[in-house]
Amino acid sequence: MSATTTALGFAISPSTSPVAAARREEILADPGFGNFFTDHMATATWTAGAGWHDDAVVPYAPLVLDPSAAVLHYAQEVFEGLKAYRHADGSVWAFRPEANARRLARSARRLALPELPEEAFLASIEQLVRADEAWVPSGGESSLYLRPFMIATEAFLGVRAAREVRYLVIASPAGSYFAGGLKPVSIWLSQDYTRAALGGTGSAKCGGNYAASLLPQQQAAEHGCDQVCFVDAAERRWVEELGGMNIYFVHDDGSIVTPALSGSILEGITRASLLQLAADAGRAVEERRVSVEEWREGVASGRITEVFACGTAAVITPVGRLVSPDGELVHGTGGAGPVTEELRRTLLDVQYGRREDTHGWMRRLV
Ligand code: PLP
Ligand code: COI
Repeated sequence: MSATTTALGFAISPSTSPVAAARREEILADPGFGNFFTDHMATATWTAGAGWHDDAVVPYAPLVLDPSAAVLHYAQEVFEGLKAYRHADGSVWAFRPEANARRLARSARRLALPELPEEAFLASIEQLVRADEAWVPSGGESSLYLRPFMIATEAFLGVRAAREVRYLVIASPAGSYFAGGLKPVSIWLSQDYTRAALGGTGSAKCGGNYAASLLPQQQAAEHGCDQVCFVDAAERRWVEELGGMNIYFVHDDGSIVTPALSGSILEGITRASLLQLAADAGRAVEERRVSVEEWREGVASGRITEVFACGTAAVITPVGRLVSPDGELVHGTGGAGPVTEELRRTLLDVQYGRREDTHGWMRRLV
């Protein structure tokens, strides 16, 4: 799709007005999730004629967009989410960023956006993290959350793939996604709304999927729940995923099961990593369809002992309760179960460099 794209190096133009060190330290002490942004952002432009160009890391600043920019009307947009982790020796690492690069390319293809070469994706995050190294928190489970995204900037109201596109990466220091930290979350089973249908955009990471999840997410909150759980659109029977996380079931024999990639589920990198880490630890792992009936019966019979959600932002979060118009299910004791805790510790130990990275998942950034 692109014409003459040469290697993109994302050279750094440093900000002349960075946030004062004392204020930055104050932010890093309690960043929450998605509240604060660093001093820089990475950017590149694509045009149908010239391919990718104008790549740089520049001071963080508002964008100037024509009001007719296609993204504002037809939501031609895709994004990614990954984290930079500071290790005990001060070095900074990303977890499987090549997988994010590949998923961004798959999402872009589905949204008729140009694909960014994997090396360019990696260069953009490396250069941004180098420029904003002081913003990578240390201690606890904090990290620098990176949000690469691509938007259709062409000023044109006709409905077709835009011929001008912008790629950006912004960064935000992150503590825990859920305000309660490792406290179990409750989830609402959405029966009125589905997230994605076969042939739709569910397996792409595009903003529209999240826009469509906001109303069911509000319903979840009205029912006292933290997150919404979606079932498949055709039969309304098969468990898919949460608004921004994949889901796992732990069985009484220690095996773990996650819904198979159905074509409408987002292929989570945390999900895939847990299949591998659990298998490494000798657990039986399964990807298959899981029905809501199996969920109910499994909790009633004691076969399902724990349920957890997983994703970059949420890491691994225990699901204490499932609420639906048909009643409420409590998983195990309603707290974090031992298998959830073990997998969480294993994953975090790899990400923070406390455990051998046997799969070569970590990439050093600084
Ligand atoms: N499912 C949805 C809808 C998501 O938004 C995310 C978060 O990115 C995930 C699953 C988990 O994906 P990952 O583990 O790659 O962060
Ligand atoms: C992530 O985990 O990176 C996500 O994208 C989930 C949510 C913040 C959209």
